[in-house]
Amino acid sequence: MVRTISRDDARRFYDRFGAKQDRQEFYEDVAIELMIELGGFSDAQAVFELGCGTGRLAGRLLSDHLPAAARYVATDLSSTMVGLARDRLMRFGQRCQVRLSDGDFDFSSHGGPFDRFVTTYVLDLLSLADIRKVFAEAHAALVPGGLFCHAGLTKGTSAVSRTTSTAWALIHRIKPTLVGGCRPLLLADLFPQDRWRVLHREVVVSAAIPSEIVIAETR
Ligand SMILES: C[S@@+](CC[C@H](N)C(=O)[O-])C[C@H]1O[C@@H](n2cnc3c(N)ncnc32)[C@H](O)[C@@H]1O
Repeated sequence: MVRTISRDDARRFYDRFGAKQDRQEFYEDVAIELMIELGGFSDAQAVFELGCGTGRLAGRLLSDHLPAAARYVATDLSSTMVGLARDRLMRFGQRCQVRLSDGDFDFSSHGGPFDRFVTTYVLDLLSLADIRKVFAEAHAALVPGGLFCHAGLTKGTSAVSRTTSTAWALIHRIKPTLVGGCRPLLLADLFPQDRWRVLHREVVVSAAIPSEIVIAETR
């Protein structure tokens, strides 16, 4: 079984990492762009984001993709990240709330239901048991037909990207904090099929690092 980092270690790591998270755009942005395209955000009214980091995705969705009346709730367990996201998203006023989370996955107190549940490069940190909890609680937080929109690290699809993802997984096994606690996943295979319908699953490679995009709908 793969060892994942504890919530306290994740909080400590991301409190220190802070704004450096935005430097990961060199491999994240291509995947996030595709997730935005497939997630149909121009029709969304209420978005919940788990692990918003510095609020980069929220800012992008609110300024360029969501209807003017759409609301956004973003959470993170790192107080540094929440501070950065609040500064960045202040200009959206009441449309956006950034909340400090204790790292738990009960989303019922965040003012749902939502029609999009978004998370990018966060599930990569979590144990399989926690990912299952996220699926169950996201299902409860979404309206019928609501979409789960994910981008995250995955296994490679070509010789080069397979080498990168294998090396990444190896480093994660040796010392997870060297890679921010993240490891490659095959997330689409983990959705319980009786509760979710996977509408899209794609892998994109940027700077030799493979990312998986999954859009799944509640059944
Ligand atoms: C790799 S960063 C990704 C940040 C952002 N989503 C992005 O794509 O740039 C992971 C983020 O998830 C947050 N995080 C980790 N575990 C979490 C949990 N259990 N609940 C909420 N946020 C969590 C971390 O604090 C960090 O900001």
